[in-house]
Amino acid sequence: MYPVSLTGDGVALREFTADDVDAVLEVYDDPRVVEHLSFEPRNRDQVAAMLSQVIEAARQEPRTEYSLAVADSATGEVIGFARLAVDAQHPGQSSAQLGFASRADRWREGLAAETGWLLFQLGFEHLDLHRLWGARSPENTASARLMTKLGMVEEGRMRGHLRVRGAWRDSIIHSILEDDDWRSARDVQ
Ligand SMILES: CC(C)(COP(=O)(O)OP(=O)(O)OC[C@H]1O[C@@H](n2cnc3c(N)ncnc32)[C@H](O)[C@@H]1OP(=O)(O)O)[C@@H](O)C(=O)NCCC(=O)NCCS
Repeated sequence: MYPVSLTGDGVALREFTADDVDAVLEVYDDPRVVEHLSFEPRNRDQVAAMLSQVIEAARQEPRTEYSLAVADSATGEVIGFARLAVDAQHPGQSSAQLGFASRADRWREGLAAETGWLLFQLGFEHLDLHRLWGARSPENTASARLMTKLGMVEEGRMRGHLRVRGAWRDSIIHSILEDDDWRSARDVQ
C-alpha cells in the first residue's frame, strides 16, 4: 500500500520525505528518547541515511516496511516516528511488529495512543493482518503503559532478544489479534 495517509483528531500518519530529516533528528538525537531503544542518539547524517532507506523501502513491491511520519494534525509538524514492519510470511501467518517514538516535549498528550490506533487501522483494515506485536525493554514503563492502554496483551519475556550497548537484553512482548482483541476494542470506541 502506497502512499499511506491516515488522519486522527490529534495526529496524522503520512509517508516521509527527504525534507523531514530535521524533524526526525529532534526525535532521535535525544538521549531520553533512545534510553530504552537498541541504539545510541543519532546524528544528522545517520537520520538522513535512515530516511533515505525508509523512502526507498516504501516503494518496494510487495511492501513490508511502513515507517511513517507522525504529524500534528493541527499544524502538520512532524513530532514522531511510527513503524509497522510486516514479518516474513509463512503459510497461514500474517503479522507485523509495531514501533513508536515521539519527540520528548510532546510526551503524555495521548498522541502515541492515537498513533497506535492508526497503526491498528493500517494493519488490520488496510493490510488485512491477523496479529500485531511490539517488543519493549523490561524497564520501559511508558511503552508498557502505552501498549496496555491500546489493548495489547503482555505475552511474556523473550530472553536475550537484542544486543544493546554490549550486553544481551530481554524484551517483553505485547500483541493484539484482529479477530477478538481489535474488533471488541474498536466496537467500544
Ligand atoms: C513510549 C512513548 C511513545 C509514549 O508516548 P506518549 O505520547 O507519551 O504516550 P501517550 O501520551 O499516548 O500515553 C499512553 C499511556 O502511557 C502513559 N505513559 C506515557 N508515558 C509514561 C511514563 N513515562 N510512565 C508511565 N506511564 C506513561 C500515559 O499516561 C498513558 O496512559 P493513561 O492514559 O492510562 O494515563 C514515548 O514515551 C516515547 O517516544 N518514548 C521513547 C521511545 C520508546 O521507548 N518507544 C517505545 C519502544 S517499545
